[in-house]
Amino acid sequence: MSQSPIGTAKPDLDTPALCLDIEAVEANIKRMADLFRDGPVRLRPHAKTHKSPILAQMQLAAGAIGITCAKLGEAEVLAAAGIKDILIANQITGAGKIARLVNLAGYTAVMVAVDDATNVAELDTAAQAKGVRLRVLVELNIGMERCGVLPGEPALALAQRVAASPGLRLEGVMGYEGHTVFIQDPQERREKTEASVELLVDTANLLRRHGIPVKIVSSGSTGTHLITGRYPGVTEIQAGSYITMDSQYRDEVGIDFAYGLTVLASVTSVPAPDRAFIDAGLKTLTRDFGLPKVIDPPGWDLTGLSEEHGHLHRAGGAPLRTGDKVEIVPNHGCTTINLHDEYHVLRQGVLEAVWPIAARGKVS
Ligand SMILES: Cc1ncc(COP(=O)(O)O)c(C=O)c1O
Repeated sequence: MSQSPIGTAKPDLDTPALCLDIEAVEANIKRMADLFRDGPVRLRPHAKTHKSPILAQMQLAAGAIGITCAKLGEAEVLAAAGIKDILIANQITGAGKIARLVNLAGYTAVMVAVDDATNVAELDTAAQAKGVRLRVLVELNIGMERCGVLPGEPALALAQRVAASPGLRLEGVMGYEGHTVFIQDPQERREKTEASVELLVDTANLLRRHGIPVKIVSSGSTGTHLITGRYPGVTEIQAGSYITMDSQYRDEVGIDFAYGLTVLASVTSVPAPDRAFIDAGLKTLTRDFGLPKVIDPPGWDLTGLSEEHGHLHRAGGAPLRTGDKVEIVPNHGCTTINLHDEYHVLRQGVLEAVWPIAARGKVS
């Protein structure tokens, strides 16, 4: 539980504190929702970023048509919070998880991705035994070389199996162009994204020509929302990171949604004028996309992370003293948020609320 009372000013928060600038987050939610409010492509934001039913409800209230998530455990948390239309953009395998999935389908409109005939058969059997009709998207590998059946004939064959399964309802197809979303050159990002999404749309049309209705064609991310989200034939996009942003997307790729997420830390040790240590290490910050950036005070860089220490080097700013606060922008919001139990929600720099990150750690 947060040690900081409501009404605490940001510099006085107990640390380390994951801070949500709620005005920036509200603006990001509205801006993305407005881009897709009138269709034909609609927004189904990815909750793997924020892992919070409150933020998911805000996205729905702003115009999103449903929520995407990566894990069954996340979907269960969202469903328990009353969210009705949930895409698990991932495969669910194994008897235990499939039992949980068909149970969830009994009381919320959950959809799941498939890319394998055996998995299709297992889902079908479990759904029939439970007396539910499980909604399914066939996932295609559109170039990321992660999950997904190949576009064209292999996807058609799998879709035909799904369509012939009484326990399943084929809703459409999905892909994820994860290999293009961080391409810095805008023209190259556009060309490679369009080439990928074309595979998805062409396969949707192939299915239709074989008499298989395809309602949903889903793909897209923060980095490609204006490319995939404007591509003819796509019906939904799955952008997630835009809600809080991070320095990978904003500084490296140039996506200009506002920073809504920082980590506030305290200086615990200053062994030399040009070196300091903070109470935020690898258990508070992540470095899978590189080291996070210090935004305040200026002139100090984060140069390393050990378990409970962040290593700071002075490149020009004023000296630091123990107890001083340091504010850091994560390089990857999704993995950073997953380390924390709660958001410190700040409005005009004052603590307004503490929200649990209810789906944090729900990796199963
Ligand atoms: C399946 C899927 N869809 C969409 C996204 C897009 O998310 P973001 O907007 O955070 O890049 C991801 C990111 O990992 C993903 O795995």
